[in-house]
Amino acid sequence: MKISLKKGNIENLKTKVLVIPVFEDVKNAERDFVKIDNLMGRLLSKTIEADPAIGEENNFSLFFNNKRITTDKILLAGLGKRDKLDAEKIRSFGGKLVNHLKKKKVSDFSILSFGYGLKGIAIEKATQALCEGFLLGNYSHTKFKSKKDKKKKGIETAAILPQTDYDTSKIEEGMKRAEILSNSVALVRDLVNGPANVVNPAYLVKEAKDLAKQNKLKIKVFDQAQLKKEKMNTILAVGKGSDFPPYLVILEYGSAKRKQDTYCLVGKGVCFDSGGLNLKPGSYMQDMKIDMGGAATVLGVMKAVSELKLPINLIGLMPCVENMPSARSSRPGDVVTTYSGKTVEILNTDAEGRLIMADALHYSLKYKPKSIIDIATLTGACMVALGLDTVGVFGTDQELVDDILAASKETDELMWQLPLTKGFTDDIKSKIADIANLGHPKGYGGASSAAAFLKEFVGDASWAHLDIAGPAWATKDNSYKKEGGTGIPVRTLVEFFRQKS
Ligand code: BES
Ligand code: ZN
Ligand code: ZN
Repeated sequence: MKISLKKGNIENLKTKVLVIPVFEDVKNAERDFVKIDNLMGRLLSKTIEADPAIGEENNFSLFFNNKRITTDKILLAGLGKRDKLDAEKIRSFGGKLVNHLKKKKVSDFSILSFGYGLKGIAIEKATQALCEGFLLGNYSHTKFKSKKDKKKKGIETAAILPQTDYDTSKIEEGMKRAEILSNSVALVRDLVNGPANVVNPAYLVKEAKDLAKQNKLKIKVFDQAQLKKEKMNTILAVGKGSDFPPYLVILEYGSAKRKQDTYCLVGKGVCFDSGGLNLKPGSYMQDMKIDMGGAATVLGVMKAVSELKLPINLIGLMPCVENMPSARSSRPGDVVTTYSGKTVEILNTDAEGRLIMADALHYSLKYKPKSIIDIATLTGACMVALGLDTVGVFGTDQELVDDILAASKETDELMWQLPLTKGFTDDIKSKIADIANLGHPKGYGGASSAAAFLKEFVGDASWAHLDIAGPAWATKDNSYKKEGGTGIPVRTLVEFFRQKS
């Protein structure tokens, strides 16, 4: 969908549907509303006055116009009570509006900008939320559909009609940010939705190379031979059962010469998690193409941060593997020496995420980062603890955790901190190696023991870990959230870096 800003005479506006947002408790007084209302013999204001339900949240009332203006149809769209409106409600309104128009087979619409009557929300922020709602709500994944379904394009064009001239640059700023963020989220959704016979480790490498080229990022790719040379044995141990060889991809944005803070992002890239020799039972294996959601998030955030030109240095590390059973696979009970030198007993080959993250996390220390944030679809236990919608947050630096949680309040991606106390480190003791890749034998606190395992590899760095096993995937459509890969937590991480710059 292409969104543009359209200035000019509303009587001559060419659009399929003109959308007029209506509050439940505030009269419409926008310049263009008054103009159209007068041209229509006050039909709009009379209708709104006669039926107060029109302004209720997400109530959409469609009209044919009376030929005195050039637009085909008018849609009065309810925003609810003005004081209750916030950025998330606007985003959700935007998503529901495009879903409604898509169902009516509308390909183009224009909307009166509603910034002026808003309380406590800046116009650029309101516009950003609205456009995110449009773009994310219009997303669909049709790459693997037959030709007929591919034609269902959704909304193609939308225009925002500013109501005063002085703030058009702020509206444009909000539109631009929304476009960058939504494209980055769409990249992540596409990768997570892509089947594992296509989105394999080499495919992620190619995506990273394409992004590096387009956005002028530096890139390093360690293939199996280089991983061996570097002694990144955990990545090798997980990857060796598959016919698709493993990689470690490192993307760099910014310049080490510039005196800016350096941050590292590390994302789990298990393109398919069968469990390995500890094979997952059928229904648990079904969705395991999503297990590269962390690596996809790294790509999405690198894309957005570089397009927004944020003044930070950002390093993205993506260990990319496929976890498969074969005669070459790691066995339960194998011991590997990690890149850090610590030895790990692989008690369960299905706890592979923490293994590949260990070497990538330890490698990230080379960059002497101000903070490291990792993102991983790491544990089913996190879903048991927090449900499907909430990211589990862990960390060694409470200030960093608090800043991530604060950023997530801005974007409305749900996050909740979970404990990383000493008991969980005791749980990952091994009888024969330094540590084991399993916590309590009954699985108690499984998300925390996985986090305690990762902590072993970050030294005393400022570090936070986001377990996205639940929220990486949505089981149903809801406004701007679509069934399938969600792209969570791209918007939060970009907001975090925006606040840091
Ligand atoms: N990839 C899974 C975690 C997961 C589960 C992600 C559901 C998304 C949805 C991870 O590698 C895994 O298998 N974890 C095991 C760990 C266990 C063996 C200690 C789990 O959570 O059961
Ligand atoms: Zn697993
Ligand atoms: Zn996994």
